[in-house]
Amino acid sequence: MKPILSVKGLKKSYGAIQAVNDVSFDVMPGEIFGVIGPNGSGKTTMFNSMLGQIQADAGQIFLNGEEITNLKPQQLSMRGVGRTFQTLQVFGNMTVRDNLIVAAQEHHGTMLNRLFAATDSGLGPQADALIEMFNIAHVSRKPAGALSYGQQKLVDIAMAFMSEPSLVLLDEPCAGVNPLLVVGISRMLKELNQQRKSSFIVIEHNMDFVMSLCQRVMVMVEGEVMMIGTPAEVRANKRVLDAYLGS
Ligand SMILES: Nc1ncnc2c1ncn2[C@@H]1O[C@H](COP(=O)(O)OP(=O)(O)OP(=O)(O)O)[C@@H](O)[C@H]1O
Ligand SMILES: [Mg+2]
Repeated sequence: MKPILSVKGLKKSYGAIQAVNDVSFDVMPGEIFGVIGPNGSGKTTMFNSMLGQIQADAGQIFLNGEEITNLKPQQLSMRGVGRTFQTLQVFGNMTVRDNLIVAAQEHHGTMLNRLFAATDSGLGPQADALIEMFNIAHVSRKPAGALSYGQQKLVDIAMAFMSEPSLVLLDEPCAGVNPLLVVGISRMLKELNQQRKSSFIVIEHNMDFVMSLCQRVMVMVEGEVMMIGTPAEVRANKRVLDAYLGS
């Protein structure tokens, strides 16, 4: 089986800080691939430099064998790559349902399209399916800003799936979310992974979440890959624990 994504020798520095230092890994079709590492270890910078948000200093990215290095977020979205950000991206004054529809319009067209397109553009059924799956039907007509932080997080995650992506990168989907909802998010991601055969790369600090959801986990420390292994292999590695304890 060929990887859906290959990252080769990715580097990004900020002055003297090597935020991402020669990172290479593959993600297989249908895989849920976890990324863990202490604060400031370069996880978000890696996502941003893989996805055209910032320009990498070196390295290549391949999607299904085709080079996608330095493509813009919109171009990546058209090729089936979605993402969520570490901070919420929902529009607070727009309803939950409209947030989902707008997220997909971004994928389909331009900013103008997004501002002036008919309210639905045929995307309603897709939005409603995700609203159902994410258990947010009861709040779907409310302005997203009126929802709890955890519910907004669900909307934010659902938005990434509106363009029916084959690969989704999630940056801390469980940050600030209560333990019950963490279990719910895990279940929803598993369901999406199975139903849509999509692959995920998930950055998370919540170890129970990562270890129960992911087939393989990459550990980043100071911009470098410390190890890639199964959850059991990562748990058993003393260097990983030391990295977290700061020794
Ligand atoms: N725009 C920037 N300018 C300068 N330094 C930056 C910038 N963005 C990130 N850094 C630095 O790069 C390093 C990696 O940061 P990054 O945000 O990628 O870490 P992270 O692993 O996502 O951390 P966290 O778990 O806290 O989200 C840190 O030392 C950070 O201070
Ligand atoms: Mg981060």
